[in-house]
Amino acid sequence: LAAKLAAFRPDKEAWMQPTHATIPQPQKIYLADYTPPAYLVRHVELTFRLAPKATRVIARIQFAPNPAAHSRDFFLHGEKLKLIRASIDGTPVQPVLVDGGLTASVPDAPFVWESEVEIAPIENTALDGLYMSNGMYCTQCEPEGFRRITYYPDRPDVMAPFDVRIESDLPILLSNGNPVERGAGYAVWHDPWPKPSYLFALVAGDLVAERGAFTTMSGKDVSLAVWTRAADADKASFALGALQRSMLWDEQAYGREYDLDVFNIVAVSDFNSGAMENKGLNIFNTAAVLASPATATDMDFQRVEGVIAHEYFHNWTGNRITCRDWFQLSLKEGLTVFRDQQFTGDLHGHAVKRIRDVIKLHTRQFREDGGPLAHNVRPESFVEISNFYTGTIYEKGAEVIRMLHRLVGPVAYGEALDLYFDRLDGQAATIEDWLQVFQDATGRDLTQFKRWYQQAGTPQVSVVKEYADGILKLTLRQHTPPTPGQPDKLPLVIPVAIGLLDSEGREILATQVLEFNQPEQCFTFSGFDDAPIASLLRGFSAPVILRQENTSEELALLLAHDTDSFNRWDAGQQLARRTLAAMVIDNAPPSSTYLNAMQAMLMNEALYPALRALILSLPSEEDTAQNLALAGQIPDPDAIHAAHEALKNHLAEHLEAVLPGVYAAMQVDAPYSPEADQAGKRALANATLALISRTDHGQAAEAQYAKADNMTLTLGALASLLSIGRGNSQLAAFATHWADDKLVIDKWFALQVTEAAPRRLLNMLNRLTALDTFDWQNPNRFRSVLATISANPAGFHQADGSVYRFVADWLIRLDSVNPWTASRISAAFDGWRRYDTGRQALMRAQIERIAKAPGISREMSEMVGRMLA
Ligand code: PHE
Ligand code: ZN
Repeated sequence: LAAKLAAFRPDKEAWMQPTHATIPQPQKIYLADYTPPAYLVRHVELTFRLAPKATRVIARIQFAPNPAAHSRDFFLHGEKLKLIRASIDGTPVQPVLVDGGLTASVPDAPFVWESEVEIAPIENTALDGLYMSNGMYCTQCEPEGFRRITYYPDRPDVMAPFDVRIESDLPILLSNGNPVERGAGYAVWHDPWPKPSYLFALVAGDLVAERGAFTTMSGKDVSLAVWTRAADADKASFALGALQRSMLWDEQAYGREYDLDVFNIVAVSDFNSGAMENKGLNIFNTAAVLASPATATDMDFQRVEGVIAHEYFHNWTGNRITCRDWFQLSLKEGLTVFRDQQFTGDLHGHAVKRIRDVIKLHTRQFREDGGPLAHNVRPESFVEISNFYTGTIYEKGAEVIRMLHRLVGPVAYGEALDLYFDRLDGQAATIEDWLQVFQDATGRDLTQFKRWYQQAGTPQVSVVKEYADGILKLTLRQHTPPTPGQPDKLPLVIPVAIGLLDSEGREILATQVLEFNQPEQCFTFSGFDDAPIASLLRGFSAPVILRQENTSEELALLLAHDTDSFNRWDAGQQLARRTLAAMVIDNAPPSSTYLNAMQAMLMNEALYPALRALILSLPSEEDTAQNLALAGQIPDPDAIHAAHEALKNHLAEHLEAVLPGVYAAMQVDAPYSPEADQAGKRALANATLALISRTDHGQAAEAQYAKADNMTLTLGALASLLSIGRGNSQLAAFATHWADDKLVIDKWFALQVTEAAPRRLLNMLNRLTALDTFDWQNPNRFRSVLATISANPAGFHQADGSVYRFVADWLIRLDSVNPWTASRISAAFDGWRRYDTGRQALMRAQIERIAKAPGISREMSEMVGRMLA
């Protein structure tokens, strides 16, 4: 027994052991240590007797020895459980409780394990496992919350069908799968599809349904419902429609049919993440499901539709085929993000979707990949998997699949996916399984391509162009900088989509894909009269940083004429980056090439409004900081902010004569619809309004605020007013009007943080967090203030370190109740080494203070440890 116990490496001991670092590092687990489960589960039967302080969970689990196992050690995960009784094949047993679970001696043959435990959902502030929100019970099990519900082999490669009985007087009782029986005070559910415990879900509450139906391609009827509190009943219909669109799209694009009689979605106001794909019972953060024109912006509508699609698509990519272990997380997340990106692009236009996704990739993932938190798309070790729900796993994971799609082409991609579903349905798979499917379906050797999963860091690609005698020669070089634990990098397979334009802007070579897989490689194109202009990395064909020596005139030409909309936008961004860098470093005036190009673009009615709005928007201050760091500069947040403000003022003056006309042309008379046409007009209306406000003292913004009948225009007007230091009366009126709507009040908090003048940010933060309405234990509310600070970098980086301290104080406080949300936000400090020595020392001091705070969680400890390493 002693040996058995030692094998389980109780967390506490590892945690206490001093390591070479000053801060103790919790125990890591390694991909290389994977072993198959000792016992498989044939069937699970759960009974819940719900009570806020003392819920009883009775589990009856059929175990069988796993023929593929390396050992017969029986271990069940369990945390924060009070064990009432346990039995094996009906005989009471006394299991040995160890840190993180229990062990017992069991027969070397199939057996039935029964246990009864008690838990206190009302005390569960971490929102992980079974918890309560607004009087309703709900669960969050991914990745390791199920072990807070009952003793179980809580790992994704153990899959089983579930029968669940819920006992409660609450009117609505839901679980996974299909409803079996409903009686006074109880309900029974059956989920026939074997699933890992992380997909378990239960909901009990006083809820109302927005109902709908869907008939699948083989003619099966599915009942759909979106469940909300009665007060939110009017905000559920858009989500229901989005679900129907998702179901149809997955049939048409991937041939994937739904596989249960019902599909339920529940809106929960206390939720750590966006949403969760539990089998047949998706649980959503209210922010990712509720939408009405009066309360949600166009971007909110698009987010709701995208998240509904994402969670629905998980039914095949995640649930039917799940992950063998958590190192494979991107197997389901990268693929499902790619699928939801395709879906949104198909429905609303690919260029705008692509641009928005790349903006997110640049700010979230490139930053992560360039700092101490950089990790592989498939990590090789971690302390807490919950720290790996990152831009790299999600967004870079999706980029990797997008590259595969481009390299093999859409037809072969479709064949590979068909094979994937055929071969791996019902299994817990790995990245190797995924790549093998592509190798088998296409005959392509993916050995080198696999490095995208095994190498962290953003590759840098430089381009040298030479033209002589009708021949264009492009020399491409790739280099991936070192990342933690990976000093040396190997060359990657980089698909570079390229087109060529002549000096008049006519396309003379349509898009081709270059397969760039050497450290240095030349590509030649011939048959020209004049030097062509290259449009490189069209559609952002690879997640790399492209460094090319374009002239500003070439960029202006691409912006005006490229056939690739993404690269038109990108050319505008490059021009803006250049001018911003010159303004910061040399105090240069803004480039007139840039200003004139923006004017021409803005007046070009052939460009649809959404695209014009995106092109008109400057790169973020974070983008400028990354860009300067890349050029070997120490970014000065104040100087960056000043340059951004100055450039916006210059734009406002330069475009002063034309802005009102564009703004007027963007007014929508028709009743509100979140569709792309209208949304694009509102995006351009708001973008032009922001500039107009800089010269008209907010007159137009006040007028827009006064007459707006939807949240997009209301918030756009309010943002414009706040950004010029006005809007106080509107802000107060807004708070009164929306006092009962938490999601809208979250926006009210967030907007004030984003728009605060950097030097006033700390005051603002103190004021906001002192309000009664700052319900800091609610993740959405906490994030509306604390996570929004990074959208105001000059405020965050106040040279006296006061905001660093403020953030650290709140992270320590939240960590004691909700480690998941706290450790997510701690990544705000990950760029600390980029800054001047003064700021570095101040940030470092705060990260160390968090690390040493008494009782800090494993999650937070891992994050700060990695940032300091
Ligand atoms: N699996 C969820 C998704 O991507 C995200 C999630 C992770 C939600 C962990 C909650 C907890 O769709
Ligand atoms: Zn997901």
